[in-house]
Amino acid sequence: MMPREMMLRELSGHEDPHPVYERMRARGPLILDGGMWLTTSYELSNRILRDRRFGVRYTDGTYPNASEVFPESFLEADPPDHTRLRRLSAPAFSPKRIDEYRPRVEKIAEALLDKGEFDLIADFAAPLPIAVISDLLGIPDEDTTEFADYGKLVAASFDGGVSEEMMRASEKVLALFTRLIEERRAKPGDDVISSLVAAEAERELTARELMGTLLLLLVAGFETTVNLIGNGTKALLDHPSQWAFLKANPDVAPDVVEEVLRWAPPVQLTSRIAHEDVGQIGVDQEVNIIIGAANRDPAVYPDPNRFDVMRVRKPEHLAFSSGIHYCLGATLARMEGDVAFRALAKRVPDLRQAGPVTYRDSVVIRGLATFPVSRS
Ligand code: HEM
Repeated sequence: MMPREMMLRELSGHEDPHPVYERMRARGPLILDGGMWLTTSYELSNRILRDRRFGVRYTDGTYPNASEVFPESFLEADPPDHTRLRRLSAPAFSPKRIDEYRPRVEKIAEALLDKGEFDLIADFAAPLPIAVISDLLGIPDEDTTEFADYGKLVAASFDGGVSEEMMRASEKVLALFTRLIEERRAKPGDDVISSLVAAEAERELTARELMGTLLLLLVAGFETTVNLIGNGTKALLDHPSQWAFLKANPDVAPDVVEEVLRWAPPVQLTSRIAHEDVGQIGVDQEVNIIIGAANRDPAVYPDPNRFDVMRVRKPEHLAFSSGIHYCLGATLARMEGDVAFRALAKRVPDLRQAGPVTYRDSVVIRGLATFPVSRS
């Protein structure tokens, strides 16, 4: 078994991965575990993520766990490809664009909350980001269910191989995007697909890179924001005084978002590959960066296990990574979280948990699979 798989196995099924993280932390900032480097240190994680001597590919240009089904995206690219491709998508996610978009997200959130008993994940946390990113990409409503199912399968694939089911779903999604690309080619709009199609016509990216970018933009927003909202709502209901504080002061919603991202980050780990020898780390060796542990590093956050929306959170948590791959959707995700927590506080102030939660069977992506709640 690969060392990474060993670690994933050790962590999987844990409702709380932190005891495992703390055992790792006790062994030092950089440890070699079953032939694999890993770090739980905030300082070292941040340094590696920003260090140009590390990348996401091996020095021969191959990518670990490269898929034959999916075209790769800039998340899986090193400069100069990364720089070129990220630049083409970035305008759609600028703070100004996202701010203009906020009223639409508010409407979607409020409409979703008009229900009695509901599951916070299935009926609110999941459909919100799906509706938002589909809308932002200009995907018609009738196609969004297909995209949503696909997103779930992709997230599952982070932890293991690609299933038959996933192959079928990805073929459907590729066909759907092919159709949308054709439509935008014939009739361009002001959405991000149209601008990427125009860039392809100018030979700024290849057809395969275009597809990889679209898949990334779709999936990156689905499977992460749902867990920001789910993990955050659970944290608030488990800490009634902070939930009460939010209800009395809705403008602390952005602080809630930041503390949830620090305390229960949806993406728990990432990795980097050394492009040259860096200290003990040899060329082409991989370092696993445990974001979930770095975000609770006592060297930078006093009393790190305490969920406290009013804590001083400097330096910024690593939930969105750091360096050149810093999450392109961070402004959008923050806005969605802000809107979601405000909407919950305003529309369902008596929200309570109505039954046991279940956790997602994933180590990389951390969040709830089901979370039954009631309005009173
Ligand atoms: C709470 C929600 C989110 C979290 C926690 C999150 C987290 C992350 C992380 C950790 C990375 C970098 C991974 C690495 O360095 O290896 C990343 C990259 C990325 N995220 Fe997000 N993300 C979120 C929401 C979104 C949304 C809504 C979008 C919108 C489309 C998005 C788009 C992207 C893209 C395009 C990248 C690749 C950036 C690059 O490689 O340069 N993310 N995200």
